[in-house]
Amino acid sequence: MKITRLGHAAVLVEASKTIIIDPYIKDNPAASGTVDDIPKVDYILVSHDHFDHMGEAVALAKRDNAQLIAVHEVTVSKDVTVAGVQVVGMNIGGTYEDDGVKISLTPAIHSCEAGSPCGFVIILDGKTIYHSGDTDVFSDMALIPQLHGDIDVAMVPIGGHFTMDEHGAAMAARYLKASRIIPIHYNTWPPIVADVELFIKLVGDSSEVIVLEPGQAFETE
Ligand code: NI
Ligand code: MN
Repeated sequence: MKITRLGHAAVLVEASKTIIIDPYIKDNPAASGTVDDIPKVDYILVSHDHFDHMGEAVALAKRDNAQLIAVHEVTVSKDVTVAGVQVVGMNIGGTYEDDGVKISLTPAIHSCEAGSPCGFVIILDGKTIYHSGDTDVFSDMALIPQLHGDIDVAMVPIGGHFTMDEHGAAMAARYLKASRIIPIHYNTWPPIVADVELFIKLVGDSSEVIVLEPGQAFETE
């Protein structure tokens, strides 16, 4: 499994299925490339309808005839329904199973226009990965590995201002107990500049921190 950070909270997961999460590319000052650089995807996961997460979700769903997976109210929003793309509208606690992949919606403490913000647990090719979406830390993050199994790779925001910062994210690392943790949602704009070295120090032995600059990838063994 190859996990590429495309910048901000956008992540590409390539394994037996190709999944993109929060595909904010075009107007993303931290994007590593363009929409044309993104390979054909099978699933597009959107954590909430803020512009920096919705991004090119609809355009990619159209381009690749891919399924857009999000909370119900996002999938029935005007932008999505007008485009006529394939959707899987779920809600927090729900799991979508399809052809060897399991995608679950997890809680997130944040705001949005439609429905509720969420995070995702993806189980694919024997790996369990977690993308928290935009959120503050909450102690029920400890339930995520209890419910879905040990997390191999977790992706959490560290930028502060709109989400938890380095301190909150390090606390999240202790609840999640993920083998590896990839910081996201930082250094895109001045309000969310983060100190990655501080985050690594605060996480300590809880998880191995994998820092991916936009465009960099991590491959699980
Ligand atoms: Ni947001
Ligand atoms: Mn955001």
